[in-house]
Amino acid sequence: MSEQTLSNLLKEDRRFEPPADLAEHANLTAEAYERADADYEAFWAEQAGRLSWETPFERVLDWDDAPFAKWFVGGRINAAYNCVDRHVEAGHGDRVALHFVGEPVDDTRDLTYAQLKDEVSQAANALTALGVETGDRVAIYMPMIPEAVIAMLACARIGAPHTVVFGGFSSDALATRLADCKAKAIVTADGGYRRGAPSALKPAVDEARAKAASNGHDVSKVLVVQRTGQDLETWDDDVDVWWHDAVGSASTEHACEFFDAEHPLFVMYTSGTTGKPKGILHTTGGYLTGSAYTHWAVFDLKPETDVYWCTADIGWITGHSYITYGPMANGATQVLYEGTPDSPERGRWWDIIEKYGVTLFYTAPTAIRSFMKQGREIPDGRDLSSLRLLGSVGEPINPEAYVWYRHVIGADKTPVVDTWWQTETGSIMISPLPGVTHGKPGSAMIPIPGISAEVVDDEGNPVPDGSGGLLVLTKPWPSMLRTIYGDDERYVDTYWSRFRKQGYYFAGDGAKKDTDGDLWVLGRVDDVMNVSGHRLSTTEIESALVSHPKVAEAAVVGAQDEDTGQAVCAFVILTDEAGDGGKDIVEDLRNHVRKEIGPIAKPRQVMVVAELPKTRSGKIMRRLLKDVAENREVGDVTTLADSSVMDLISKGSKASS
Ligand code: WT7
Repeated sequence: MSEQTLSNLLKEDRRFEPPADLAEHANLTAEAYERADADYEAFWAEQAGRLSWETPFERVLDWDDAPFAKWFVGGRINAAYNCVDRHVEAGHGDRVALHFVGEPVDDTRDLTYAQLKDEVSQAANALTALGVETGDRVAIYMPMIPEAVIAMLACARIGAPHTVVFGGFSSDALATRLADCKAKAIVTADGGYRRGAPSALKPAVDEARAKAASNGHDVSKVLVVQRTGQDLETWDDDVDVWWHDAVGSASTEHACEFFDAEHPLFVMYTSGTTGKPKGILHTTGGYLTGSAYTHWAVFDLKPETDVYWCTADIGWITGHSYITYGPMANGATQVLYEGTPDSPERGRWWDIIEKYGVTLFYTAPTAIRSFMKQGREIPDGRDLSSLRLLGSVGEPINPEAYVWYRHVIGADKTPVVDTWWQTETGSIMISPLPGVTHGKPGSAMIPIPGISAEVVDDEGNPVPDGSGGLLVLTKPWPSMLRTIYGDDERYVDTYWSRFRKQGYYFAGDGAKKDTDGDLWVLGRVDDVMNVSGHRLSTTEIESALVSHPKVAEAAVVGAQDEDTGQAVCAFVILTDEAGDGGKDIVEDLRNHVRKEIGPIAKPRQVMVVAELPKTRSGKIMRRLLKDVAENREVGDVTTLADSSVMDLISKGSKASS
């Protein structure tokens, strides 16, 4: 974000007080900040107490081997039992857990907690029968259907860590992840509905399994949900099993085993600064404590009356913490929607809110900006009066989008909670408490009770109010990542080496403290882009580009974009043999990235250039390229004449020096 925008942001002085009735009945009040400060371990022990432990823990935190943490030492727990069984045992079996809304209109299904208990038990029995044992990794590559949540909980139930791969990722991306975590089985579907049509998933699984096999890793079973009924080109009887056969015929009785609090719950891959995605490892007791506590506190959840809806996909951390684990550990009733916001028409989301009486709504700024563009007539035509709280996540929310969200969607009565966190943090770290903290458009405000954050300079000293620096977390927290799967060294290097002396966790984000001491997260300070709230690595896209036979060298930057926050812009040098690459080169390369990684990584622009600006030591000057990408008026696809790019680059270099 440029300094210009930053100073505009900091002039933002609108304030929104918590609504009186929310404040009066709020789950968490101002006193919690003091209590957490006074005795942080006692505070977290109290939060862990929202869960049912088979064996109570003996020690809250073991940080002796920092930065390798153990939380709730000695405790034994089962995540699926906590998310499902205990609600049935407490007499809430008839409560709806999921209002499933398929993309085809009228394709809906409600699942109560009692039904979910049966289905999760069946799926757990089926996985065991397929040879999945405690500790084995299971990949999940699914559309947003109830079976995705059921598969996650079934894995948790038998202690088999899952790795959910976003259904929009390519077979290559899936293959890399399968091989990295050596997945024993995959749960998938024939396809899902996307913009009104069935979209296949199973063929990508077949391809990924073949690729993983050629890299020496065999996946032994693939469990396939029949969602669309589309034709499958291939079916391997030794490997492929229909969900309705294996799960459908399994017993609904499953006695669950309890695991150590530190038993791995899942691995979630996310982009880092190198080409290789990082497998972020989360464990059971601490992660569940963090996701349940924050969901209850930040969304002020009243499970008997609220209807909650988080629009994220299960393939991202938001779907893990704020669809599957947090809300279900709290016994919430929620909407699960399969499709896109504008299918079959633009008001689809608002129709769903009206139909189910959604009270708590959680989405991303990029979605809000696209609704702003479509105009307020669309939401104004629906009854959204059930809403009492709105959440935002994934990227900084610009004040205009915040105010529109509150005003048009929230009828000026709902607080907006801007929640900052990461795949690594497992749950929300910085956010207003809706019944306590006033809202300031664009600011995530302060760390929630139990969390300690700071903005520091390069030496690790806190910056004064009114200045900027790097965002760090100064104390460990229960839902923190435990390591990068199979790579402890990278874990230490990436997060803990920058401020080793102070022992701070380095988040990779720049931030500013305003004169009130409130925090404004400004975006990544490393080679990671944020496109529509999704994290992408510049290096990963560069590797995809150079894997194309016509590309000799590539540099990728994230340029500011009105709709998506940042957009992928690529500069490429072609090989000598490729000549000018042919007339379709730009489109070919964009599609190549799409195929290698997935549609979300498809560059907005590809510019073919003769040279790339480099420092004396040979490092590509990305800042400069970013200036070029941001200053130039370009259409969807552009091949710039070499000279004009170099011209722009040199102009940019003058401008920025
Ligand atoms: C990165 C983490 C957390 C779930 C979704 C993304 C950015 C996230 C905010 C926010 C400003 C935000 C940061 C962070 N980010 N939320 N409220 N305000 N920036 O998870 O893929 O792990 O990405 O998203 O840059 O480091 P993720």
